[in-house]
Amino acid sequence: MTPIIDVCALEDLPHGERRIIEWEDLEIGVFNCGGELLAIEDRCSHDNGPLAHGELDPLRCTVECPRHGSVFDLRTGKPLTLPAYVPVDVFPVLLEDGQIKLEVD
Ligand code: FES
Repeated sequence: MTPIIDVCALEDLPHGERRIIEWEDLEIGVFNCGGELLAIEDRCSHDNGPLAHGELDPLRCTVECPRHGSVFDLRTGKPLTLPAYVPVDVFPVLLEDGQIKLEVD
């Protein structure tokens, strides 16, 4: 069965905000991008940069790696600009009774 972990209440993650969640050896960034809840691995595929700490583009739902500037699509985990070219993991986000949860597999 896929593990499901609690993130926070929806009201604690307003539009344009993020939470960094730890699970086992993973760190995952959970974003509210214009009401869409998206989760991406907090480790850039280029050089392990802290991807989920980067700048969010709330119109495109992308995040820019703070280390060398690759832009990643939060919906797919695919890099849209170099130097990264390998996708990172994304995770399904659930909303149950006003609580944000994450499927981590
Ligand atoms: S570590 Fe992210 S672009 Fe280099």
